Amino acid sequence: MMYKDKKVVFSGVQPSGVLTIGNYLGAIRNFTEFSDEYLCYYCVVDEHAITVRQTPADLRRRTYETLALYIACGLDPEKNTLFVQSHVSAHAELAWILDCFTMFGELSRMTQFKDKSAKNADNINAGLFTYPTLMAADILLYQTDMVPVGVDQKQHLELARDIAERFNSVFGDTFVVPEPYIPKATAKIMSLADPSKKMSKSDENENATVRILDPKDVIIRKFKRAVTDSGSEIKYEDGKEGIKNLMSIYGAFTGKTMDEIEKEFDGKGYGEFKLAVGEACADKLAPVQSEFAKLMNDKAYLEDVMAKGAENAGRAAVRTMSKVRRKIGFTEAKR
Ligand code: TRP
Repeated sequence: MMYKDKKVVFSGVQPSGVLTIGNYLGAIRNFTEFSDEYLCYYCVVDEHAITVRQTPADLRRRTYETLALYIACGLDPEKNTLFVQSHVSAHAELAWILDCFTMFGELSRMTQFKDKSAKNADNINAGLFTYPTLMAADILLYQTDMVPVGVDQKQHLELARDIAERFNSVFGDTFVVPEPYIPKATAKIMSLADPSKKMSKSDENENATVRILDPKDVIIRKFKRAVTDSGSEIKYEDGKEGIKNLMSIYGAFTGKTMDEIEKEFDGKGYGEFKLAVGEACADKLAPVQSEFAKLMNDKAYLEDVMAKGAENAGRAAVRTMSKVRRKIGFTEAKR
């Protein structure tokens, strides 16, 4: 196995749509915890984004925005490798190789493929189908030990593990087999309009999602309109899915436990509680938003981060690629 003095963390965020508090609480915010102990790679996965049709100018802008958001959420580019997927060509290269070790049947069973092809019936392209092998390539390129992801990505991660194990069993130890890391309490932030559905950045209903960059008045309004049951007590119990979701969000922003929240709002109504959730959320996001605005005004800095990140990531990726090429039997052009 490849020598490493630190374990490796890798995760990716798509530059499609605008990130929600689900992405923030369930993913990005927790990423900062890892940078002392692990070697961390965080990637803006623009190649994944083109599996659905993108307007080039929007894709370009969102790539900058996603990188800026990573940094604004607390990921220090000096302590983490922040980079853009298409800047490291080994991702696409390894994805092709892994395609040849991934079965049609396996890809057909991916629930995200089934969902996305139902939604994009006029553009069920091969990239949408092989998306999980590109994701496996992202992860395996860096000999990743741990992948922080939302529960919706667990199936893709399991496939990445299967591909790694399959490759290793044919060619001998080549890839580290990665483990998922799913933060418990806030793994799943649900839609404010339908608490049985995950909060998704691509939801057409504006009121379903709160975005990291929403202004305070919008945040307060969205929480005010959040769907709850007809009861009146702030209690964390089944049947009160809307309230449970709001309590989880409030807990995630304030660090309070569900018990503490129940006590705090004992005898108080939904209206007061919703306002408190909105304020806690807006207050916590305010510094992220101002940092984001500053970064977006400094393209040169962002480009510098991109360049350094790509160089760092590229160096690690080349090591894995040369091992893979050798194992498979690809030749080298010696000059
Ligand atoms: N598929 C992930 C998503 O849609 C994004 C992603 C791409 C990713 N490559 C990754 C996540 C590698 C973790 C690791 O959310």
